[in-house]
Amino acid sequence: MRHLSIIVATSNNDVIGVNNALPWHLPEDLKRFRALTTGHHIIMGRKTYESLGRLLPNRTTVIVTRNKDYKIDGALVTDSLEAAVALCKEDAEPFLIGGAELYQHGLKLATRLYITRVHADFAGDAFFPTVDYKLWQLIEKRDHTSVSGLEYSDLIYEKIHEHK
Ligand SMILES: NC(=O)c1ccc[n+]([C@@H]2O[C@H](COP(=O)([O-])OP(=O)(O)OC[C@H]3O[C@@H](n4cnc5c(N)ncnc54)[C@H](OP(=O)(O)O)[C@@H]3O)[C@@H](O)[C@H]2O)c1
Repeated sequence: MRHLSIIVATSNNDVIGVNNALPWHLPEDLKRFRALTTGHHIIMGRKTYESLGRLLPNRTTVIVTRNKDYKIDGALVTDSLEAAVALCKEDAEPFLIGGAELYQHGLKLATRLYITRVHADFAGDAFFPTVDYKLWQLIEKRDHTSVSGLEYSDLIYEKIHEHK
């Protein structure tokens, strides 16, 4: 594994979801998500899996749940994020794709962040955790306007190596 990556779309006020769904329509971002994650492992919390409601094609799905009896045909299921990451060790870049609870824990383990920042405030009930940007270096920023009229930026950060 070269990078354990988090991929997220978040509003100015850190909203990532409302009623178990995305609060915006950003087709370009879904395309980018597909391009980046295709061929890789995608690790997700049980609620995010259920909000998707299906397996995403051409990716290996890893679902994290504390429920030992949880089974989904065609997916791997683990009871901790660490166990999920261990299943992906042959993958150069597995992705943590949410939701809020998984991101909270995942930020400590991840080495790269793909953040789509939607430049607007949204009402929501799921939030991206506070990032300590002192630990992260911005390596790419691209600004866009969606066909839906929303302005957003694609940001890529990498974890700064600690020197002793
Ligand atoms: N904007 C985005 O990029 C984006 C991406 C993904 C999701 N979302 C949104 O995020 C929301 C869902 O987030 P959420 O926080 O409610 O749910 P979540 O993180 O998707 O799932 C939470 C569930 O996952 C399991 N889980 C999480 N961390 C675990 C751990 N460390 N060990 C074991 N099990 C763990 C537990 O399942 P059990 O309860 O089964 O034990 C927990 O209840 C939705 O609104 C969704 O649309 C947004």
